[in-house]
Amino acid sequence: MAVVIDGNAIARSIREDIREKTSVLKMERRITPGLAVILVGSNPASEIYVGRKKKACEEVGFLSRDYLLPEDVDEKTLINIIDELNEDPDIHGILVQLPLPGHIRTSEVLQRIDPQKDVDGFHPLNMGLLLTGKPLHTPCTPKGIMELLDRTGISVEGKEAVIVGRSNIVGKPTAILLLNRNATVTICHTRTRDLPSLTRRADILIVAVGRAEMIKGNMVKEGAVVIDVGVNRLPNGKVVGDVDFQEVSCHAAYITPVPGGVGPMTIAMLLDNTLNAAVRSLPGA
Ligand code: GUN
Repeated sequence: MAVVIDGNAIARSIREDIREKTSVLKMERRITPGLAVILVGSNPASEIYVGRKKKACEEVGFLSRDYLLPEDVDEKTLINIIDELNEDPDIHGILVQLPLPGHIRTSEVLQRIDPQKDVDGFHPLNMGLLLTGKPLHTPCTPKGIMELLDRTGISVEGKEAVIVGRSNIVGKPTAILLLNRNATVTICHTRTRDLPSLTRRADILIVAVGRAEMIKGNMVKEGAVVIDVGVNRLPNGKVVGDVDFQEVSCHAAYITPVPGGVGPMTIAMLLDNTLNAAVRSLPGA
């Protein structure tokens, strides 16, 4: 049976470390890291994420400011808020919760955020720096996945890593991080032929597609490390990942649960990026 990687415990220890660093920063440098979160409309999943981010900020002693905008807000209003936050010395991180409503151009909005304050790492400059070397900020979920692997003592170098899902938020940046650490990386997607033959090759399998329990036991190699990024609600109300946990945990060596795996790590990495942005804003940094 697989070892279950406890994302809650790992994230808690990271948050504790950030809380201590924040308290030193406040005392010695008179600065409080500040995060602004912008949410457009009332997508229930997004509302839950934004609530968790706010609670996590308060817990570690950050300033947290929320902008809850109506579904029909126009792009100009949103851009104006970002412009103001870019200039606001109390705010070190700006996060626009995705997805945005269809009438707003996501790329225009993300490009408007000052790359130094782009704690999601979605600005094209940060995406480009991720490809070529060290970005100012690394996207939170991919960074959280790497932390989970590192803190569990799983080495990446030379391993066959297979990623299912090619989103800009998870699949693509995770592939780059693994590649930068010398894994051999394959990205699978909706048009991939014979998905099971590829997932069965994986020493490290990362799944981020948003389809409940689609990865079955016979799609995973014995002894693989399986990282499940999916969060899906079944008709009976139960929350499950993209991996069939019961089946796959009989074959894998390590597996992340849903909930309590990758999710808390994403928020811990958001705090880490915001803390780094605050430190970098200090004179002489
Ligand atoms: N929507 C789903 N995941 C994310 C994320 O990591 N950041 C933002 N801004 N929106 C999301």
